[in-house]
Amino acid sequence: MREFQAKELPEFPEATTESIRLIQENIERIVSEDIKDFTYQAFSEVDPRFWVAPASSTGKYHPAEDNGEGGLVRHVVKAEAVVEQFARRDGFTQRELDIAISAILLHDTCKNGVVWESKNTDYSHGIIAAKWLEKFELNDPGAKGEIINAVRYHMGQWSYAVSPYEDRPYSKQEMANNLSEVIRALHPSRVERAVQDADYWSSRQSMSFFPGVSVEIHHDL
Ligand SMILES: [Fe+2]
Repeated sequence: MREFQAKELPEFPEATTESIRLIQENIERIVSEDIKDFTYQAFSEVDPRFWVAPASSTGKYHPAEDNGEGGLVRHVVKAEAVVEQFARRDGFTQRELDIAISAILLHDTCKNGVVWESKNTDYSHGIIAAKWLEKFELNDPGAKGEIINAVRYHMGQWSYAVSPYEDRPYSKQEMANNLSEVIRALHPSRVERAVQDADYWSSRQSMSFFPGVSVEIHHDL
């Protein structure tokens, strides 16, 4: 495992340390050194509030383990476990799997913007993260483009260029941009599709689990 310095929040030392450990354990699942390196670069610059945030700002729509301090990281870790299963089913190459793991780990890094000033989810966080990720180095433009697109369109039919929930009139251009974002998201590559499905499936309220932790159900005799 390599040396990794994330931006930490001094007020939550235990929560941040555990979140960083979980993400690093998952980055290490990437076999391609260049993709692993790209993923490390981005996580070393992620806003430190990423490490302690809950998965949903309202706490309403996610399973219990996604709530509270570090809930977003737990959601991402679960989504990574699921994306590996979709990749297995679809017979991904190692390179495709590495791209999918990188994208699923990075998909919510800009959930509340590049700088997390607001407590609320920004509904255009796919495209925000896609633009932010451009600055990190990956010497394979094809792989970099695939990671960035899988992050950009991870919300499927809920992918937006501009948040559609503001109480104001939208310009024709904004409406056209939102429409083309959705149309493109609904024509995913298979890596993009795996990322969309893993994020969706792992965040359903009734799908409570954590990778590596099994639940024992005792039946009545
Ligand atoms: Fe997500």
